[in-house]
Amino acid sequence: MAALFLLLLAAPLFSCAAVKINPLVLDKQVLWESGEESVSTYRIPLLTFTPKGNLLAFAEARKASAGDYGSKFIATRRSTDKGATWSTSSFIRDDGSVLDGLNLGSVVVDEKARTIILIYTVCFHLYHCSPASTMMVESKDDGLSWGSPKNLSLQIGVMNFAPGPGTGLQKRREPNKDRLVVCGHGTIEGDGVFCILSDNHGKNWTKGAALRSIPFNQPKKPQDFNPDECQPVEMEDGSIVINVRNQNNYHCRCRIVARSHDAGMTLPIDDIHFDYELVDPAVAAAAMMKDGVMFFVNPSSEHHRVNLTLRWSLNNGKSWERNAFQIWHGPSGYSCMTSLDSNSVEDQKYIYVIYEKGQKDIDETISFAKIHLYGGL
Ligand SMILES: *[C@@H]1O[C@H](CO)[C@@H](O)[C@H](O)[C@H]1NC(C)=O
Ligand SMILES: *[C@@H]1O[C@H](CO)[C@@H](O)[C@H](O)[C@H]1NC(C)=O
Ligand SMILES: *[C@@H]1O[C@H](CO)[C@@H](O)[C@H](O)[C@H]1NC(C)=O
Repeated sequence: MAALFLLLLAAPLFSCAAVKINPLVLDKQVLWESGEESVSTYRIPLLTFTPKGNLLAFAEARKASAGDYGSKFIATRRSTDKGATWSTSSFIRDDGSVLDGLNLGSVVVDEKARTIILIYTVCFHLYHCSPASTMMVESKDDGLSWGSPKNLSLQIGVMNFAPGPGTGLQKRREPNKDRLVVCGHGTIEGDGVFCILSDNHGKNWTKGAALRSIPFNQPKKPQDFNPDECQPVEMEDGSIVINVRNQNNYHCRCRIVARSHDAGMTLPIDDIHFDYELVDPAVAAAAMMKDGVMFFVNPSSEHHRVNLTLRWSLNNGKSWERNAFQIWHGPSGYSCMTSLDSNSVEDQKYIYVIYEKGQKDIDETISFAKIHLYGGL
């Protein structure tokens, strides 16, 4: 009886939810501030729900400078009340004092194995080190502790692979239900979108799809085809849409969209398009499907990392609703988003965004926003 009641309660909200989206930011918080804990700069935020429904945030803690090179910690904070309060920051990795340390990264939750996997790269820029390695750490206790790092280059081969930044995914539908899919990009010359796949809950990884830049492995010019940082999203038909940074502004100052119909094995040229509505200054953006609605977050501007904007699409990204929502008008950079897919009506209402936010520069803070999708009504 109770279940039936819940079902009746849930049904009307679900069916008309899409047309009534009118977001309101409920909970704004600074998770990390550059300069604190003797860390020069926090960048590259990641956010996910854990298997037990807790929120887990990560960021690179760049020890001595704001640059992409240099030595770093991986910082994490965890919330057991859906973002209202957070644990103090702790460091789960420390790369010492190397010149070209670790870079984040993709976080992927395996709902079947109930594990959280974080994939990152070390020595990506080959600056006073060689080769670049793809690394993985895993938590089996909902993000409270982490195992020792595994070198995935032993399995996938040595390549310059920078995962994400953002979330990987576990296939929920056929083909290849339960497969873990993590996508990222290569070096500036050998750039493109590359995916790695695991069919046994992260024990073994293989190389999957490659969408190479043109001309591949050669210096790039402005307007060359240079797909870069990317966010994969599983669609309701089981295909994977990858929303990609258009590094050299090929064709437009907007996002490249690629699609895989074989669970990350290939990214056919026929299925690539440019989303002119998603104007972009060449940045890592966030994308996600929730209850049949596609969401997208980026600094919506052709030339500057400002104006962090949430958009939503009721037709799988073919077009975007007119009433885009501005999360932050000022400097804003990389972002990542998540939501909780439970059977609760409450969880249908919220999405959670983490992003680089500042008053003058994007790298002043890593900030969090809980967004009520129907709160602005
Ligand atoms: C990872 O494995 C590759 C391939 O054997 C090796 O070349 C590289 O040095 C290893 N990286 C680390 C950080 O151990
Ligand atoms: C999976 O990787 C392990 C080493 O981590 C190796 O011993 C094993 O043979 C691999 N299994 C498959 C199916 O490739
Ligand atoms: C912010 O983004 C919205 C949506 O793309 C756009 O209409 C608006 O002009 C942008 N504002 C600025 C200052 O770029």
